[in-house]
Order: sequence, then C-alpha cells, then structure tokens
Amino acid sequence: MADIESLLKETRVFKPGREFSRKANWNKKTISEYRKLGEKNPERFWKKMALENVSWFTKPKKSLEWKAPTAKWFADGRVNVSYNCLDRHIEGKNAWRKNKAAIIWEGEPGDTRVITYKQLHREVCKFANVLKSLGVKRGDRVALYMPLIPELAIAMLSCTRIGAPHSIVFGGFSSEALRDRLDDAGAKVVVTADGGYRRGAPLPLKPAVDAALEGSTSVEKVVVVGRSRASVPMRWQRDFWWDDLMKVASPDCPPAKLPAEHPLFILYTSGTTGKPKGILHTTGGYLTHVATTSKAIFDLKEDDTYWCTADIGWITGHSYVIYGILANGATTLMYEGVPTHPEPDRWWDIIERWGVTIFYTAPTAIRTFIRLGEEHPKKHDLSSLRLLGTVGEPINPEAWTWYNRVIGKKNCPIVDTWWQTETGGIMISPLPGAVSTKPGSATLPFPGINPEIYTEEGEPADPPSGGFLVVRRPWPGMLRGIWGDKKRFKETYWGNYPNTYFTGDGAHRDKEGYFWIMGRVDDVMNISGHRIGTMEVESALVSHETVAESAVVGRPDEITGTAIVAFVTPKAGTNVDATLKKTLTKHVAREIGPIAKPADIRFTEALPKTRSGKIMRRLLRDLAAGKETVGDTSTLEDLNVLARLRESDED
Ligand code: WT7
Repeated sequence: MADIESLLKETRVFKPGREFSRKANWNKKTISEYRKLGEKNPERFWKKMALENVSWFTKPKKSLEWKAPTAKWFADGRVNVSYNCLDRHIEGKNAWRKNKAAIIWEGEPGDTRVITYKQLHREVCKFANVLKSLGVKRGDRVALYMPLIPELAIAMLSCTRIGAPHSIVFGGFSSEALRDRLDDAGAKVVVTADGGYRRGAPLPLKPAVDAALEGSTSVEKVVVVGRSRASVPMRWQRDFWWDDLMKVASPDCPPAKLPAEHPLFILYTSGTTGKPKGILHTTGGYLTHVATTSKAIFDLKEDDTYWCTADIGWITGHSYVIYGILANGATTLMYEGVPTHPEPDRWWDIIERWGVTIFYTAPTAIRTFIRLGEEHPKKHDLSSLRLLGTVGEPINPEAWTWYNRVIGKKNCPIVDTWWQTETGGIMISPLPGAVSTKPGSATLPFPGINPEIYTEEGEPADPPSGGFLVVRRPWPGMLRGIWGDKKRFKETYWGNYPNTYFTGDGAHRDKEGYFWIMGRVDDVMNISGHRIGTMEVESALVSHETVAESAVVGRPDEITGTAIVAFVTPKAGTNVDATLKKTLTKHVAREIGPIAKPADIRFTEALPKTRSGKIMRRLLRDLAAGKETVGDTSTLEDLNVLARLRESDED
C-alpha cells in the first residue's frame, strides 16, 4: 500500500526531447494515425503492421478470427521467423546487411564474439540440418537448457526454421524443474552446454540434464555445446558434441513455409497452482507484435547497438533479445554473466566499450546499482546511450529518477514497458518520440491494444480509477493456450470476465488515462521481475520429509521487489534449528532453483487458519513484513493466538 501511495503522489511529467521526436521511427503524426486506426479497427491496424513489418511467403488476407478463448491471427498467411530474422537481411534490397553484426556477444570471462547476419544465417541453417539429422520433424519439441551464448540464439532460430517449437528452460532452474518441463512438453531433443560462467566460475549444466533424463523420458538425443570445457560424461548414442555435428552439417536449409498459427515456442511460467504453465505462442501474430513494438518503442535504427540484459530463458529474452530485434535487422548485444563481475562496473564498462545506444533492463538491477554507488557508472563514458527501458515490475520513482540522471544523463527517454509471458510482446509503454513520461507509470497502451480497468464486478471503470487490469480485445502476440491444458487456459485467463483476458495484475488509471501497474492480485510473487507462485514453493517445501505444512508469502524487499518468506509446520519430532532452515532452503533450490530460495523461514506449531480452515495469508503477510511481532522468531512460534485475535477481520 505504501508503494501505491508513493507512486500516486508522483506528479512529474517528462516531455520527449524535440530532437528525439523529430528523428523517431514513429513520429507524432504516424502515432496519432495509428492510435485512431487501432481504436476504430484494431484488426485492420494489426494487418497493416503484419504486412509492413513481416515478410510473408503467402500474404495473409485474414486478420483476426476470434471465438473466445481461441484466437487466430493472419491464419491464411505463410511465414517463417528465421527467414524474417536472417534471410531477408542478406538478400534483395537489404543484402548490404550481410556484414552487419547481428549479435555482439561477451562472455563473463571477457571473451567476445561478433557474428554477422551472413554468419548467423549459415550457422542457423547448419544447426537446422543437425536437428533434422537427429530426427526432429515439424511440430516436435526441442528443449534448450543453455547459458547465454550465441549457440542459444542459433538453436532457437534453427528450431523456427524447421517448425520445431522450442521450449527454453532457464539455466538457473534445477534438474527437477527441468525434468517437469521436459516431460510436460514431451521434448524429443535437448540442447545444452557443459556449463556457463557465473560469478567467475563455470556453472555446470549437463549434469542437471543427465539427472533430469533418468528413468523414462521422451528425450532421445542431447546436443552439448563445449563452453566451459568441464569434463562431462557423454552417453553413447544419446549425447553428441555440438561441434562434431556442425562439422558435417550442410549450410543449405530452406526455411519451412509455415502457416501463421504454427506453434513457435512454449515457455513455462508460474501460476497460482503448483505446476508451471507451458505458455504457447504461435508464429505470424507473435512475430508481427514483437517486430512492430521493437521498431516503435525501442526506435531501432540501422546504426544502433541494442542491449537487453534479460536472460533468454525468460520471455523478455525471447521477444526483445532475439526475435523482435533481429526481425528489424538490428544489432543485439548478449552478455553471459552477472552484472557485478569482476567489478561492480561491468555493465557500464560494456556500454562504453561497445557504444551501446539502447539499454533495456529491470528495476531490480537498477536498485542494486543504486546501492552499489554512483561512482561505478561515473567511471565510464555512457554518452552513446540514447534510449533506456525497464520491464518486469513497477519501477519506483526513486529508481526511475536515478536511471534518468545517472545513466541517461537526463538525455534519454525512458520506456517503462508493461507486458507478460502470456502477452508475448509489450502492451503498455510510452512511444519515446511522442508520449510524455511520468516516473512509475507505464503510460499508455500501444496502438491496437485495449487494456482496461475493471471493478471486481466486471464493470469497466472510467479513469481516474483502480481495479483489475484486463485486456478487452485479442492482440496478435497473445498466448494461444497452455500446453496440454485447455481447461486451465480457459479458467485462468478467460474465466473471470466473459470474452476478456485477465492479467492477474492490479492497476490504477489516472485522469489522463495513464496506467500505473500495482503488481499481482493473485498468489503469484514477483521476485526480481520473475514470477514465482507461492504454491510452487509450498509444494517444494512439503515434499521434504520434515515438513508437515507450509504457507509462503511475499514481503517487500528493497532490491528484489519481493522476497520469499516461508512459514513451516515441521512434522512432530523434528529438530527445529538453524540447520533445518539451511536444509529446507537448499531443498527448495534443488526442487525449483536458486531464484525460489526463501529469504526467511519461520517455524510454527500450526499455521493460522480461519474457522473454515483457510490459511490467513493476510496475517502471514503482515508478520513477514514485520508489521506484527510475536516475540522470538528463531524457534517454534505459536501463531494461533494471533489468528484468534485477527479472525474477525480476515475472510
Ligand atoms: C508480470 C509478468 C514481461 C517480461 C517480464 C516479466 C509484472 C512486467 C511490468 C512493468 C509493472 C510489470 C506484472 C506482470 N510487470 N512489466 N513495466 N510495470 N509491472 O514477465 O514473468 O510473465 O511477469 O510482471 O506483474 O503481470 P512475467
């Protein structure tokens, strides 16, 4: 609540710079035209974008076909994502781009690689042939469990070339989490690496793959990139080195002419129940959405060096490290490691050395750097920067101001972009040449996107107002389903209001129609801009032999936005001490991954429950935030006294 109040007290307005506006890809005139068309006829607007920003083998005549909750966009069109990201930049009128850097990559130890469009095209064709030689057919799922190295980009694009949906699993997830995702997607091939670099040391990945494949599995082949040169056991006829396969692969692989609704990828994200959801995206609509928003919001130009710091294991990396950026023929920078290695100025050093012009990152990173001190960015010449962006969580005005002053030198527009794994691309954001910004607000919907604030009863609320954030009309990048679970898809997103997409976020809209996102209204926590379900952590905890019951809540955290606090009822006879805390923390890391580790575990005789047996989460949240105290929290607490006191006002 305090956060909301401080956001809503923010009254500063920052106008776009005149020079920036004049040169912007989308100027004021275009934007007002697009806004009008987007409001009057979003389907016509998006069709126009599809024809302008995407190259089709067969141009679509259709735009949207909609029977809630099933959407089809440009369904009669034929298209290929890798063609749009590669081939069209090395042939025809754009052939000059063949020697342009598609990817600038920097490893954590300081090794670098620059890959031109022509080179990337060749590698992608070769690896597409490798996948075929391993038996991958159109529609087969390929899992990618990799560090942030160019081979990940190559593997993604190769999958799209042959119509094999990829399922990228963030390298920070444990073997257990990987196994769940491999099983759910029914993956046929896994591409991984021996390891990647993190905090100065190689972090092994292949052993997690081996563990995940124990017992029965759909996976037939494993491809291993040699990155860290750690010694890894290779299983005969199942595991192959990337280099060995690439050596003999042909560089000739025509792109598959896929129907626009062909599955492009699955990406797992947390929900309110224990099991992550495989969010399904398809080809033509998604590509239209990410290519258009990249051009308009990041204002990508031929001579830009664009850097989005996200890992490709998250949707931000899919849409705005790779697909949207390469579709525009721009240069994308990838950095493998942690922001503060070997020194706290690593990121600023990268910006200076490569002359980064557009920089897209998360509020949690900005807050970390504020704490580390201004002297680190000040050591570097950041004058190449011309546009800044944020994503993942609401940005507090203090962080916004610091970003503007210390990194942008008050000379760069900031685009605060609201979107989700499910939306595929950016939905609410300033257009940098035309929209005035207010620190903490994602500002206005992108043309052709129809977000709205609904009351609990499902009534649209006119601004100024607060309530639930919904999207009233389908958009091209929207998810097409949850892999293998139609019912859950319907219930989660389309069950609250008829014909209307429910985001799970609360938001406020001010009198000028600006959106201020207030965070999740469901049992999903936003940890450093990544979603973790409370249920997911609870399931991990109760799977440990010492735990009888657990309830997990979020507490506000200065750096990560939210930190995880777990209340645990141990089984009778369990020795409750600091060791148990450590054991359980490790257990959660093993079950899910280090990002899900509780910042605090508190043991209680019993969880506080209402008479009807519902866990009193609000009470737990207050306890976690330190608003209410119950004496010594180092051993077993008795929360039921508090529960009885509070019971009347809960429910
Ligand atoms: C949730 C989606 C989309 C890429 C990263 C996260 C929160 C995202 C913003 C923003 C306020 C934001 C929302 C959303 N969120 N961007 N600019 N301002 N909140 O993707 O893991 O699917 O999480 O992140 O709560 O629902 P994700």
